[in-house]
Amino acid sequence: MMQTSMLIDEAIEALESQIDDTAIIACSGGIDSSVAAVLAHRAVGSLLHCVYVDTGFMRMGESEEVAEMFAEMGIDLKVVDASEKFFSNLEGVTDPEAKRKVIGEQFIRVFEEEQALCGAKYLVQGTIAPDWIESGGGERDVIKSHHNVGGLPEDVDLIIVEPLREFYKDEVRQIARELKIKSSERQPFPGPGLAVRVLGDLTRSRVESCRIACDIVERHFQEAAAAGICDLPWQYFAALLPVRSVGVHGDARVHGETVVVRAVTSLDGMSARYSPIPHDVLTKVSTEITNTLKGEVNRVVYDITNKPPGTIEWE
Ligand code: XMP
Repeated sequence: MMQTSMLIDEAIEALESQIDDTAIIACSGGIDSSVAAVLAHRAVGSLLHCVYVDTGFMRMGESEEVAEMFAEMGIDLKVVDASEKFFSNLEGVTDPEAKRKVIGEQFIRVFEEEQALCGAKYLVQGTIAPDWIESGGGERDVIKSHHNVGGLPEDVDLIIVEPLREFYKDEVRQIARELKIKSSERQPFPGPGLAVRVLGDLTRSRVESCRIACDIVERHFQEAAAAGICDLPWQYFAALLPVRSVGVHGDARVHGETVVVRAVTSLDGMSARYSPIPHDVLTKVSTEITNTLKGEVNRVVYDITNKPPGTIEWE
């Protein structure tokens, strides 16, 4: 613990010396941005403006939970509903890298508007080591342009401050626990949100289907873990695939899409093994997904790929 508190003190000191004017941070409610926000808030107090951007790609009930969490920590959080902008700019964009670029760019545009309002000179980001390593920061090929890294336009007019740049996920989790951040036990969630879990067209209705499927996976896996049926995986979710197959509802033939359930164990997200989820749990998940999304989804599959060669997310 001593070591974690020293890391915290050092990070706060560094932020104090880096930030001498108004700063802005995008708070998603996830561990990385929440830790960065709390550290920066401790370092510079009201110089920090925390903004939550509702992209339209958040999980079920997430926006409300994040607002509540910040209110409880006594940190002001401005909620901006930018979903219309995100959906319209992503119309017809299906290439995973192109999606990430558009999302990163839209984020920055939203911030520029917020920056103009609060006059921020600095942009604090919760980028952690795997984000920039996998975005080509090291010697390796680009695997994915992680949100907050590869998605940044070159003409950004803010000084970027990244207090967690050298940390891995497990270290950030430890810091979050020490700082008593409520989301410290939450599973990781990608910056671009459900946008990278909806393969193909990003329509509001397809994103909603993915949101519902993710919620079902989360509920059943958490229930099973609480009942001691299996361990709670490191990360577990659903993705919607633009793969149509023939199915049947009553007497009717349906041509619906496919949901893939993904659950992995991992230490830091750099490598992962698929979780051996008991069949009973998977059956419940499959039944609820196909019942709830009747007509839209008629097939549920389980991903048994490790990382490598697969990545954790599908895009
Ligand atoms: P992959 O899919 O690359 O994911 O194996 C590794 C871990 O990173 C999360 N992830 C992201 N996190 N911005 C983030 O902050 C992103 O753009 C992003 N893409 C993936 C993923 O959920 C997993 O935990």
